[in-house]
Amino acid sequence: MSRTPPSGLRRPARFALLVCVGLAGAAGCLSPGADVPYVQTPSDVVTEMLRLAGVNANDVVYDLGSGDGRIVIAAARDFGARGVGIEIDPGLVAYSTELARKAGVGDRVTFRSDDLLEANLSDATVVTLYLSYDMNQRLRPKLLRELRPGSRIVSHDYDMGPDWLPNQTIQVTWRDRKSNVFLWVVPPKS
Ligand SMILES: C[S@@+](CC[C@H](N)C(=O)[O-])C[C@H]1O[C@@H](n2cnc3c(N)ncnc32)[C@H](O)[C@@H]1O
Repeated sequence: MSRTPPSGLRRPARFALLVCVGLAGAAGCLSPGADVPYVQTPSDVVTEMLRLAGVNANDVVYDLGSGDGRIVIAAARDFGARGVGIEIDPGLVAYSTELARKAGVGDRVTFRSDDLLEANLSDATVVTLYLSYDMNQRLRPKLLRELRPGSRIVSHDYDMGPDWLPNQTIQVTWRDRKSNVFLWVVPPKS
């Protein structure tokens, strides 16, 4: 289904630029150890992802590969949630922590420098993704194992393959482009 390359803005964060110089290509910057490059989700798409997931003040929102932290910060600032960003690039972790402080949500969000495939997701009620089709495939068993039934997963641009169809798909128009956003609800444990 959706295997198109990421469609976010191309401007890297100031801290990320330090580690990405010389590596920036058409798809963004690939930090050391990263499985996918750093490309930002446009803010209109961020809002629609969080709306689609029905994020509210009771939620703990995890963004796996959190970049500059925009999804987690928006979840706290605009929807009253708490949030955790997992990001392999320590420069981006420092940058997003600073942005969260400036946005006034530093007490409700945390950014961790970690590999998203190793992170403990058990307290997440919502997981957000903007990774790749292959990473979603690798993550799928972990998500089903660690998340509680009823937890929601939203992904920008990439689905989970034919074996786990989304509960809902929307299309978001930003500038002159379109992004798909997919929603899954974690089923009861069998
Ligand atoms: C396409 S960007 C998305 C950034 C942000 N979630 C957004 O939507 O604006 C993917 C991010 O995942 C990070 N990343 C890639 N592989 C990772 C891994 N194995 N563990 C943690 N973060 C990773 C990259 O450094 C990058 O910041």
